[in-house]
Amino acid sequence: MSVGLPLPHESAALHVTGEALYTDDLVVRLPGVLHAHPVQAPVAHARVTRLDPAPAYDVPGVVRVLTAADVPGVNDAGTKHDEPLFPSEVMYHGHAVCWVLGETLEAARLGAAAVEADYEELPAIVGVRDAIAAGSFQGGQPTVQRGDVETALAKASRVFSGETEMAGQEHFYLETHAAVALVDEAGQVFVQSSTQHPTETQEIVAHVLGRRSHEVTVQCLRMGGGFGGKEMQPHGYAAVAALGATLTGRPVRVRLTRQQDITMTGKRHGFHAAWRVGFDDAGCLQALDVTLTSDGGWSLDLSEPVLARALCHVDNAYWIPHVRAHGRVARTHKTSQTAFRGFGGPQGMLVIEDVLGRCAPLLGVDPMELRRRNFYTAGQTTPYGQEVRHPERAGLAWDQVVAEGRVRERLAEIEAFNAAHPHTKRGLAVTPVKFGISFNFTAFNQAGALVHVYKDGSVLINHGGTEMGQGLHTKMIQVAATALGLPLAKVRLAPTRTDKVPNTSATAASSGADLNGAAIQDACDQILARLEGVAGDTWEERVRAAYAQRIQLWAAGFYRTEGIHWDAALMSGHPFKYFAYGAAAAEVEVDGFTGAYTTRRVDIVHDVGDSLSPLVDLGQIEGGFVQGAGWLTLEDLRWDDADGRLLTHAASTYKLPSFSEMPPELHVTLLPAAHEDGVVYGSKAVGEPPLMLAFSVREALRQAAAAFGPPGTSVELASPATPEAVYWAVERLRSREEVPAR
Ligand code: MTE
Ligand code: MOS
Repeated sequence: MSVGLPLPHESAALHVTGEALYTDDLVVRLPGVLHAHPVQAPVAHARVTRLDPAPAYDVPGVVRVLTAADVPGVNDAGTKHDEPLFPSEVMYHGHAVCWVLGETLEAARLGAAAVEADYEELPAIVGVRDAIAAGSFQGGQPTVQRGDVETALAKASRVFSGETEMAGQEHFYLETHAAVALVDEAGQVFVQSSTQHPTETQEIVAHVLGRRSHEVTVQCLRMGGGFGGKEMQPHGYAAVAALGATLTGRPVRVRLTRQQDITMTGKRHGFHAAWRVGFDDAGCLQALDVTLTSDGGWSLDLSEPVLARALCHVDNAYWIPHVRAHGRVARTHKTSQTAFRGFGGPQGMLVIEDVLGRCAPLLGVDPMELRRRNFYTAGQTTPYGQEVRHPERAGLAWDQVVAEGRVRERLAEIEAFNAAHPHTKRGLAVTPVKFGISFNFTAFNQAGALVHVYKDGSVLINHGGTEMGQGLHTKMIQVAATALGLPLAKVRLAPTRTDKVPNTSATAASSGADLNGAAIQDACDQILARLEGVAGDTWEERVRAAYAQRIQLWAAGFYRTEGIHWDAALMSGHPFKYFAYGAAAAEVEVDGFTGAYTTRRVDIVHDVGDSLSPLVDLGQIEGGFVQGAGWLTLEDLRWDDADGRLLTHAASTYKLPSFSEMPPELHVTLLPAAHEDGVVYGSKAVGEPPLMLAFSVREALRQAAAAFGPPGTSVELASPATPEAVYWAVERLRSREEVPAR
């Protein structure tokens, strides 16, 4: 059985030799390809009063300037009809107002510089607090509600309130946004796009061109990382390429430079949270009242579903009897913030972890004890009304991490170390993860697959999911081989294309393997059912015999997740098929003079069900954890509040985690005996949940910072907890005269 084998990623050798092809690599094979360059507005908010492309045509090599007047269909790059592809109003610094096509990229760049544009500047709102003050919101303002928060807060023995603010995050996928479009002799449009959602890219290209979906094919060979950033944002770039190709009859290539990508495309939403929380005498959570405001940027994009997931994750792994979680999306003059690994879940969960980390000393309860005491137990439901399946797994993962990480012993060692070192302090924290799997939007929980068995017995599979490095294709080959009872070598996988499997969902919400794996299994089961009773000693003999008997040797598979439902108006239902669990213990050391810190050791136990592909899953856990640690402790997005310019627009100013930030000791264990009923081969989704294991690092920093102050002090820590932020947290403690009375 090839499911469960520790295989390398199916493209690992190609990745490391540089032979793996990405969207832009296909360009070298295309004669006559034109290169596209945007004209980016140098203001955050303005009306475009004049746009004159004529001077661009004086630049040698400029072939065509694309403007709103060229759009035969709908001038819109989004699904909400609030994202004009060629805008007449600039909504953020760097917004592309038109595109220039050239024989070379340099010609297109010079042409873009020659385009003349006049802007009438309008007032801009850049910061989320300014947006809240101005009442600048967009989209719905939903509330998850259970019980009676006011009464519960009035009855609670301890009540605290505060604010939590967290920054967004740049995806920094290695491959920037890219698309190549061609038109064939019949006018059929073909787009190779770096997209997590080929079907939606196809739909947007079609509506911009004024065509039907069957005239547009979108292919995604692979992505050099997506992380959610290519769930909704690729569409406009694909549409520019397709529009250029239909107007010129030549292939058109769009590939953003790093600076264009970072200044034009959406990021993780930063959030602001204002909360009140009540505990009983034993430190058990009684009530949480929270208002989450996400910084949505200039258009809606995926902000509403991201907010919904945030509201559905403010509980993390904790039972809170009375909850009111209200959400709003601020409209600001920034890039349109979008999906990013965890999809709002991390932001919601960070709020409760911040609350517990700050309240533990005020309650006089050890933070580990406070967290463990509040875990869900069997039979309890989430604030949106879903029974928590297997809540004991959070506790199992926690207890295993504590035991294998020798957490108790190390806490004693740390206490001794801190007593002996006035200017260097260590901290250790353990945090849990509970993350809901399935799209909140029920319709997305479906998938298709196409499985071909050729006369020689070889198998070619195609499915609706996309490969972005997460190992989905590796798992799908393993699933098909297992379902058909064949060795892996008999199965090959073909690139994802909308003309093979239609109407697909985004590869997102970590559900790629669950959904597409089940669809592949369905197709394989159909084929096996037809082969039943066909004689032959080998697979090849049976296949040949079946062909001779005119038995269909290929099948389309389909899957939809049963038993889930969601009422978006009431914000209640059973949106998730199941929960993924995990726990992490992190130890850090902080230098009191500078705030600089190192992560000394991390232990993780994570629940992936029965792993489909253990090496792939380990990679996802390690990668997710490091990406989360980057968000929470290093990556510091900064905009200039005055003119809305993104100040951190390159790797030189935007600090990413690298080898030097990796903990020298990182132990990852898969939770044993974690079979998940009703999911393909008992497996669980793994793409996003491990990101949130990184809360442990931020909480460890809080512990270490606290060690600089008097015992029992509550530490407020910014997110990201950069060395600078840690320094200020420590400084505030040192300058504090006495322990607060509460
Ligand atoms: N891993 C790699 N290497 N590259 C990526 O872009 N994206 C993440 C996660 N892991 C990503 C990744 C995100 S945001 C999601 S939703 C899942 O992979 C999507 O793939 P899956 O559904 O197959 O897990
Ligand atoms: Mo992942 S944020 O759901 O693409």
